[in-house]
Amino acid sequence: MIISRPGPPEVLQLRELPDPVCGPDQVRVRVRAAGLNRADLLQRRGLYPAPADSPQEIPGLEFAGEVDELGARAEGFRRGDRVMGILGGGGYAEKVCVAAGLCMPVPEALDWSQAAAIPEAFITAFDALHRQGNLQPGETLLIQAAGSGVGSAAAQLALALGARVIGLSRSEAKRRQLAELGLTRVLDPAEEALAHRIRRAAGGEVDLALNLVGASGLSVEVEALGVGGRIVVIGLLGGARAELDLSAILAKRLRISGSVLRSRDVLEKIELTREFAQRVLPLFRAARLRPVVDRCYPLAAAAEAHIRMERNENFGKIVLNVGSAS
Ligand SMILES: NC(=O)c1ccc[n+]([C@@H]2O[C@H](COP(=O)([O-])OP(=O)(O)OC[C@H]3O[C@@H](n4cnc5c(N)ncnc54)[C@H](OP(=O)(O)O)[C@@H]3O)[C@@H](O)[C@H]2O)c1
Repeated sequence: MIISRPGPPEVLQLRELPDPVCGPDQVRVRVRAAGLNRADLLQRRGLYPAPADSPQEIPGLEFAGEVDELGARAEGFRRGDRVMGILGGGGYAEKVCVAAGLCMPVPEALDWSQAAAIPEAFITAFDALHRQGNLQPGETLLIQAAGSGVGSAAAQLALALGARVIGLSRSEAKRRQLAELGLTRVLDPAEEALAHRIRRAAGGEVDLALNLVGASGLSVEVEALGVGGRIVVIGLLGGARAELDLSAILAKRLRISGSVLRSRDVLEKIELTREFAQRVLPLFRAARLRPVVDRCYPLAAAAEAHIRMERNENFGKIVLNVGSAS
């Protein structure tokens, strides 16, 4: 499925292309399912080009499938192994070549669609909460747009760690689904005195805010955080430019950091994948975490899937099935 030119969902078109050839440290994967990400919508509109080492026209930041071929130096997998992982691009396809170190085994109980819903959302959330945000058991995490793919993953990871999670969503249906997911408290961002309500729900103050919405979410986070609080910005859904009263940053000794996964060096991503596989995959095997799959579409209906995401209708992940996958 290629982006034939920058534009609306219809520019996504199926094309027959030659099979990709894997480099010495890569494996080629027969893709069974590929997760959709907000970044795909930007890339389709021509606003988020793929990194230089990734296919430029084929979107797709994650995959689940079977190893189909191994490069000369690729280690750790055999043909036919069920794997999943993150990509710089190229997931909306029948075959993709990826560094062997970016592949993780698919936990046995999960089908292809569930597996494809894990890598980008859960690795991003794991990195943001643990490596960037240093979330600790017993702390309180605030997530705006908590019903997103990344938000629903972050909420589960934080709960599994023993943190309290306060989630916000503009949609009533998503607020219900978030409550079912076990969040400590779910609130409507349109409520009056929001920061006060958040602090009351936290039973004190918030320790970490995972900011997926950018500018529009900043002031309420600064207000809700306690002394020594942290904000990790990883999304800009509500804009990139904010006005901020720095006196609160000083008085509360707050820290604001930002992070992005896609453009990082492949060796860094391999190391993050390894740590994720060691620390988080066992939680999927023990059914303490579950991929939240919103809806599946055949690859040929990728444009419809983009429309659903653009309308903010998904709770959790939208997945494209490739071939006869379920
Ligand atoms: N830094 C990284 O490495 C990285 C990696 C992956 C994703 N991300 C970012 O994480 C964010 C979530 O990605 P995703 O793929 O998980 O998204 P998603 O599943 O499409 O969910 C996004 C949700 O955000 C809410 N939303 C949309 N526009 C909003 C706005 N202007 N203000 C407040 N809420 C808004 C909507 O839910 P409601 O119905 O609740 O409003 C929407 O369904 C995106 O910003 C994405 O770019 C960053």
